[in-house]
Amino acid sequence: MPQPPTFSDRLIQWQRQHGRHHLPWQTQNPYTVWLSEIMLQQTQVATVLDYYPRFLNRFPDVESLANAAEDEVLSLWAGLGYYSRARNLHKAAQQVVKQFGGEFPQTRIELETLCGVGRSTAAAISAFAFNQRETILDGNVKRVLCRVYALDGNLQNKKFENQLWQLAESLLPPKNNDMPAYIQGLMDLGATVCKRTKPLCHECPMNDICQAKKQNRITELPRKKAAVEVHTLSLYWLIVRNQDNQILLHKRPTKGIWGGLYCVPCFEHLTGLYQYTQEALNLDLDSLNEEAAFTHRLTHRLLMITPFTTDERPSEKISDGLWVAQEDLAAYGLPKPLLNYLNQAQKSLF
Ligand code: ADE
Repeated sequence: MPQPPTFSDRLIQWQRQHGRHHLPWQTQNPYTVWLSEIMLQQTQVATVLDYYPRFLNRFPDVESLANAAEDEVLSLWAGLGYYSRARNLHKAAQQVVKQFGGEFPQTRIELETLCGVGRSTAAAISAFAFNQRETILDGNVKRVLCRVYALDGNLQNKKFENQLWQLAESLLPPKNNDMPAYIQGLMDLGATVCKRTKPLCHECPMNDICQAKKQNRITELPRKKAAVEVHTLSLYWLIVRNQDNQILLHKRPTKGIWGGLYCVPCFEHLTGLYQYTQEALNLDLDSLNEEAAFTHRLTHRLLMITPFTTDERPSEKISDGLWVAQEDLAAYGLPKPLLNYLNQAQKSLF
């Protein structure tokens, strides 16, 4: 008796006909697959399409990345956000060189030992580059599974997540050669058809087996996560130039917002900015100009940024910072709102 097509049969056939085929990281090179998967973790495809070629051009292989200075890696990452990804990427490249002789390991379990590589990312690399039968389980795949199998568990619950891993593993295709198309199919279906809002069910290869569709529960599933609270954080920037019109930058601490990037002196409280102005720069507070505040949204925070400028030019002998010319700013990893502000302020303020 012929068997009805399985979940993986349907997905592979659909991916080959209707999925995405021209993304530049669709190769079997573990280095470029890994790089793209890290970039794509919290970033849209359209944004990654812009950063990925520049990064790859500068660091064409794992050795060049391992040998780079962390600051240069961060500067090519500037604007992509979640900077721990860039620092981990750099460390993982060094792990590949030192611990694996410059060759990426092929198994999901070994790939998971690399900094910044979790189970789902390790599975994607092992499936795309080495045809390993490993499943991914990102937010999009969870949504597809919750709908096709009408599962209404809480996505924040570990036990429910483990059940989804088990289900996802049970759905893998039998043939290793089908793995790249299958994993790409999981990604493509979630991103282009089984979308969070307004899914295109009439285009879906699971249309006739989808339990949520059958039960008319597409909008209800998956059950919504509790909304994350967005806290507002005030930041005060001090924008100061020396006699040569260079701007003072500090390297941000590794932890926290814009970790490891270069930024103008930045304070959470005005008292900190005042103290720094007087004690480190030896400037009078009367010389400060408060500029118009603006907001910048990060995933979990709304930043309320107030820049302060001064016409005074402090001595260049400031031990804790770096003086950088306006035209060289882009070469440093600067937070996107700062680069935007300085470029626009250059036109009007200075
Ligand atoms: N999101 C995560 N990985 C991806 C990939 N390889 N292609 C498209 N979107 C993705």
